[in-house]
Amino acid sequence: LTTADIGLDNLIQDSRVHGSLYTDPNIYAEELQRIWTHGWVFVGHDSEIPNPGDTIRRTLGPRSVTMLRRSDGSIDIEGAPRVDAIHGFVFGSMAADGPGLDEHLGDATTVFDRLVRLSPNGKVRLDCGWLEHEVRANWKMLLENEVDGYHPNFVHGSIFSVARGALTGLFDGKSVAGQRELGNGHTELLITPQSRHAGPLSWVSSSPEKMPEYVRLMRESYGERADEYILDGPPHAMIFPNLFIAEIQIFVIAPRAVDRTVQYVTAIQLDDAAELNSKLLRNTMGSVGPAGLLLADDAEMYERNQRGVALCDPEWLDLSRGLNREYRDADGHLAGHVTDEVTQRAIWRHYRQVMA
Ligand SMILES: [Fe+2]
Repeated sequence: LTTADIGLDNLIQDSRVHGSLYTDPNIYAEELQRIWTHGWVFVGHDSEIPNPGDTIRRTLGPRSVTMLRRSDGSIDIEGAPRVDAIHGFVFGSMAADGPGLDEHLGDATTVFDRLVRLSPNGKVRLDCGWLEHEVRANWKMLLENEVDGYHPNFVHGSIFSVARGALTGLFDGKSVAGQRELGNGHTELLITPQSRHAGPLSWVSSSPEKMPEYVRLMRESYGERADEYILDGPPHAMIFPNLFIAEIQIFVIAPRAVDRTVQYVTAIQLDDAAELNSKLLRNTMGSVGPAGLLLADDAEMYERNQRGVALCDPEWLDLSRGLNREYRDADGHLAGHVTDEVTQRAIWRHYRQVMA
């Protein structure tokens, strides 16, 4: 039987998916059309091309494109009929018609709002360069992993054992952190309870006493709400299909072949927050730079998993964790404990809908 004979509805079930979804070149070709060409894809940030005439080369799914700033200040992606942005994050779609970016993002717009409010002037910059990591694995391995709260205690056990800090307890069974879907395949881990427990500015391994100028500027801009923003910290969210807002970093997923994916990473820089930015950059390099431990662990896991599914061993991937205790939150989104698989199930539900 070929995948076409079996059908996507049989390969993607409520609590398990078939391994061929990560290895079948026909499915990959279909994804390039339906998700990476017709859908909205993150391309770059406006801070990367600050001046009229600035250009950068990027990929929009299978295509190589140029993102450029025109003389009137607007941003264009050559060949893309639709370009739109939120808080400087620029997305493109190769389809002339379809849902707008606002509709595609839906409730995930709040993720961007929660990120930029950490800057006293409400702006972030992605202008300190990108690292490029290639892995021999299907792009969906990365997509699912970005919002998986079950693997860290095992896969990253060695780094957690020596670098105790804000992460301690975040991913164990008694963690107060959660996870939820945001609609349209967008998902997030809810780490705010942990940030609140760890104290203001714990997300940048600092404290208000060490960053007095930043705290002053934040209070000047946001008044009483500033203390809440500084305490809550940045979001941890995966914008389908390729933009991962990873608290103090941005990851971008770029598929290259059915079993080959490039992941780009850069440190978030908060505008008008000079005190924080060198720390954001150093922390990013420590965790996901060339010698960073977190990313190397994940890369090994993606590649071993890819070899496993290529052998159909196992044939099915179980996604039922936490199915018994998921619930709808106040916004109507399915939610669960941080170590559950609410997020993976939400990604696959959306995937099935887009691919059908
Ligand atoms: Fe990881």
